[in-house]
Amino acid sequence: MLDELAKIRENALARLKGIKTEEELDALNTEILGRNGALTAILRTMGKLSPEERAELGKAANSAKQALTAAIGERRSSIAELIESVKNERERIDVTLPGITGTPMGKLNPLTTVYREIRDALIGLGFTTFEGPEIEYDDYNFTKLNLPLDHPARDMQDTFYIDEKTLLRTHTSPCEARALMTLEPPFRLVIPGRVFRVDEPDASHSPVFMQMEGLVVDKDLTFADLKGTIDTFVKAVFGENVRSRLRPSFFPFTEPSAEVDISCTICGGEGCSSCKGTGWMEIMGCGITNPHEIENCGLDPKEWKAFAFGIGIDRVACLKYGINDIRLLYEGDARFLKQL
Ligand code: DAH
Repeated sequence: MLDELAKIRENALARLKGIKTEEELDALNTEILGRNGALTAILRTMGKLSPEERAELGKAANSAKQALTAAIGERRSSIAELIESVKNERERIDVTLPGITGTPMGKLNPLTTVYREIRDALIGLGFTTFEGPEIEYDDYNFTKLNLPLDHPARDMQDTFYIDEKTLLRTHTSPCEARALMTLEPPFRLVIPGRVFRVDEPDASHSPVFMQMEGLVVDKDLTFADLKGTIDTFVKAVFGENVRSRLRPSFFPFTEPSAEVDISCTICGGEGCSSCKGTGWMEIMGCGITNPHEIENCGLDPKEWKAFAFGIGIDRVACLKYGINDIRLLYEGDARFLKQL
């Protein structure tokens, strides 16, 4: 019996070493120490033994039971530790790893970028910003700017009227009237804003678009000042190599008036399909402010001279970024903005 007991003990301890899971451990425990276990079976035979044999076997069996219980307990806690450490390793957070998606960043609309570039170039020339309302009086949008009610040039701009006297401004030029009527000259202003015209939206038309007006009022101004100002911001926005030229034109609020062309940003002036072979692209209107406008706004045209220009920011943004559909500027589609 003693031999048997020693064998059971040895055998169990040896098997214990190879055990890796709690289930295997439970199985071994039941097999040896359980109600029908090998050791229990030996203890059951003790009733048939002599008292001396019983004492001897009892001692050996107890010691084997203790030793095995302790060894199984130890194994149990080392398995638990192993499981815990594997789990911890798996769950460990490496704070030095880069993020999976990164922080999504917004993008500025090209209208904002282009406006800021022009504005900043003009601020460098001593301009400050000025703004007016989008809902405007007919008087400021047209009449004060030398476009009386019966003036044919009113038809050039299809207007959203709110009532007989109020409308959605068709250009930023009414802000010229507001500035002339309220500010103390001399001043130099850059005036950005949304403007509205009755137009079916298509690739080159939008009923809402963005303009920027420039207005300089001083005692002594010449056409050369206007030309220099325009050339400065054209170069700031399109690059040093881009040239500008003025072409005679007509606007009721300026006399003389001119249209500004820049050398084609696609072919550099050689002539291509984008500039219809001319080498030039039209970007804005400008001129020496008509004395009627200055007078309509309460200043003496003999004392004060002014020049002005009005630029379509949408057109400049499309030229600069090669955008072929103006509607993209107003859709707020992040996939479009990301490409710029
Ligand atoms: N207001 C004109 C337009 O919307 C643009 C313009 C042309 C503004 C000449 C000016 C200017 O100040 O001098 O078409």
